Amino acid sequence: MTVNVTTPTNTPATPTTTPTPPTGAPATPAKRSRDALAVFGGAPAVPRRLRSLEWPVITDADRQAVLATLDGPLVSNVNGESPVSRLEQTWAARCGVDWCVGTSNGTTALTTALAALDIGPGDEVIVPALSFIASGLAPLHQMAVPVFADIDPVTFTLDPESVRSLIGPRTAAILPVHLHGHPAPMDDLLALARRHRLAVVEDAAQAHGALYRGRPVGSLGDAGAFSLQVTKNLPTCGEGGLLVTDDAELARKARLVRQFGEVIEAGKDRDYVSYRLGWNSKLSSVQAAFTLSQLDRFDGYEAAREEQVTRFLGRLAGLPGLTVPTVAEGSTHAWHILRFRLDPAAAGLDGITPGAFRAALHRLLRAEGVPMSRYQLMPLSDQKVFAERLGFGNGQPWAAAGDDGPARAVAAPVTRQVIDDSLTLQKRHLNPGAGPALDAYADGFEKVWNNLPDVLRLARGYSNE
Ligand SMILES: Cc1ncc(COP(=O)(O)O)c(C=O)c1O
Repeated sequence: MTVNVTTPTNTPATPTTTPTPPTGAPATPAKRSRDALAVFGGAPAVPRRLRSLEWPVITDADRQAVLATLDGPLVSNVNGESPVSRLEQTWAARCGVDWCVGTSNGTTALTTALAALDIGPGDEVIVPALSFIASGLAPLHQMAVPVFADIDPVTFTLDPESVRSLIGPRTAAILPVHLHGHPAPMDDLLALARRHRLAVVEDAAQAHGALYRGRPVGSLGDAGAFSLQVTKNLPTCGEGGLLVTDDAELARKARLVRQFGEVIEAGKDRDYVSYRLGWNSKLSSVQAAFTLSQLDRFDGYEAAREEQVTRFLGRLAGLPGLTVPTVAEGSTHAWHILRFRLDPAAAGLDGITPGAFRAALHRLLRAEGVPMSRYQLMPLSDQKVFAERLGFGNGQPWAAAGDDGPARAVAAPVTRQVIDDSLTLQKRHLNPGAGPALDAYADGFEKVWNNLPDVLRLARGYSNE
């Protein structure tokens, strides 16, 4: 389908802040009807009452659980039964592993895992170019060098072929990220790791409960790291993290790393001796108690999300030029973030770039009350801290690794394309009662797609994007 547009008659109601202001107008005169785009004065598709959806959902049970911790020991290094140890046991069982170590956040779960695996100066860790900054910072915190690999265009997780091309003599580990809740291709990555004797630390910060060939993510590599940060699928009332592993020795080292290198054992007095380099990355009882209480409802929330997101994506799947997220065979998706790819040519819109199409849709959908946003504005490799080798200063840790040339170039073309041509839906759909809002979001998408001539007109104003 090709859409032709003539005679602009009006300007959008909301001024734009993006480089080239749109000069277009609705193909039909704007009227405050349900058909006219909200940006041109029509009634928004998403009514006000569906605009705010709380996450996390906090119940009286959560409040009681947190309050009860005030009657117990307040220090977070209790060496026996505590909310932290109960959460650790519960999450380990749920992941099907023997050990879980609570940490102060998801980033410290990653760094603790890397430290316990003795990854440090001189080592390289392969990380996907599309992820949250913490996935790339974690190796750096250990003075190891992150090397960024490209991603798969459909699952947005590590491309094993790109990983393979980057393995060199200094490679010590692969850090697959189960981005947005979709499992990374662990069979291929684990095979590469075995062949080259590399450690595998899974970043499962966004993927609680997702399964890969029937096994929970986080339990497939040497260690897995989860975030309990308040926006995550399994949240705490603030910051927290969980490290899981089936390796008793790795778990023992992780507990040392978590607390100043000290050995803390139930029934034994603390000796205040540092047996290895450690940090203070403990999880507090308040945080653990809140998450334990949330875990009672986690399965129900997951089931509601699966049903609602599936229905939502089903409604959008037929819109031309919109690629909805899918699930690879053998995996389940935690649906933490929904990423939609956008193709103007497939929508029948000629002469505009994917970036311009994305910018126009971003504005139009938000005006309709559909809270679309971008997730990551650049590949991790372009972040100043890596690209300019800011690190610890003086070019460290790259210099310590004997790597004093320009940063190892990673073109990451797929990552760049995905960042340019996609929008995401975050957080709102996590609430188990999000069904009516998702239905209204789908109305908003359909309405915008019913007005493709206006999309084209607006997109032309974003031609520099
Ligand atoms: C993929 C990924 N890795 C790591 C983290 C870090 O977790 P935290 O914020 O708990 O430190 C996050 C958090 O957003 C994340 O999304």
